[in-house]
Amino acid sequence: MKKYKLGLIGAGGRMGKEISTLVSEQEKFEAWFGITKNKKDNGFKFNHQNLNHEAAASTDLWIDFSSPDAFLNFLPTLIKMKKPVVTGTTGFTEAQLKKITKAGESIPLLWSPNMSLGIAILHKTIAQFAQISHFDFQIEEVHHKHKKDAPSGTALHLQRQLNKVIPNKKNPEPLAIRGGGVYGQHKVWALGEEEYLCYEHVALNRKVFAKGALWASEKMLKKASGFYTFEDLLK
Ligand SMILES: NC(=O)c1ccc[n+]([C@@H]2O[C@H](COP(=O)([O-])OP(=O)(O)OC[C@H]3O[C@@H](n4cnc5c(N)ncnc54)[C@H](OP(=O)(O)O)[C@@H]3O)[C@@H](O)[C@H]2O)c1
Repeated sequence: MKKYKLGLIGAGGRMGKEISTLVSEQEKFEAWFGITKNKKDNGFKFNHQNLNHEAAASTDLWIDFSSPDAFLNFLPTLIKMKKPVVTGTTGFTEAQLKKITKAGESIPLLWSPNMSLGIAILHKTIAQFAQISHFDFQIEEVHHKHKKDAPSGTALHLQRQLNKVIPNKKNPEPLAIRGGGVYGQHKVWALGEEEYLCYEHVALNRKVFAKGALWASEKMLKKASGFYTFEDLLK
């Protein structure tokens, strides 16, 4: 069976290593082109610091878990390569997100600040809150102390959905807690006078995001140019 040649930006990071491990355990993707800052061996056939290499051009699909600046630097070259791109990087500014969305005019591009099925379902569930719009709402998140952005990209993603569903009042900004080794916990509170409701999602490991990224990648290989979210793939 033909394996798709996978390129991975940020191959030396926590998520990069998780994806490399997962790729070595399955048959659909081949660890083809890994990009790290210091060109360490990362289990990929080609290891480089940038895309200026012949082997990069034959990559079938790119996954990115790096940093906002790194991804934005690589994006113009990725657009020229005309292959699907899946990025899970978080911490983009609104202006950067606009550039990423626009890239969808040229290539199939998925951005999801959270690659878990559970968060995708939670995102959809928030639509139900329109029926209790008189409640107060609050998003809360906990992450490991090495996480660079706060609030998390996922909390902001959920907040955008909440603001869309409850447009007539100012929902407070998400609360962010940093410490220990927590992979990711998100809560969405809906607080009434006599009752409250709280949806909670907990990532039990980093593998959940790696599995989600590979699942989304396989689907993106069949997509036309456009900007996609994880929720779009569940439709
Ligand atoms: N969507 C999701 O489901 C999900 C899940 C987890 C994490 N994330 C996000 O994914 C991103 C990465 O997370 P992480 O925990 O893996 O962080 P990390 O361990 O810091 O990994 C990021 C990696 O990218 C590398 N990098 C930065 N600039 C680069 C460049 N120009 N060229 C090559 N490599 C470069 C970093 O190298 P150095 O260490 O040398 O700087 C680092 O190895 C973050 O934005 C995080 O919030 C998303």
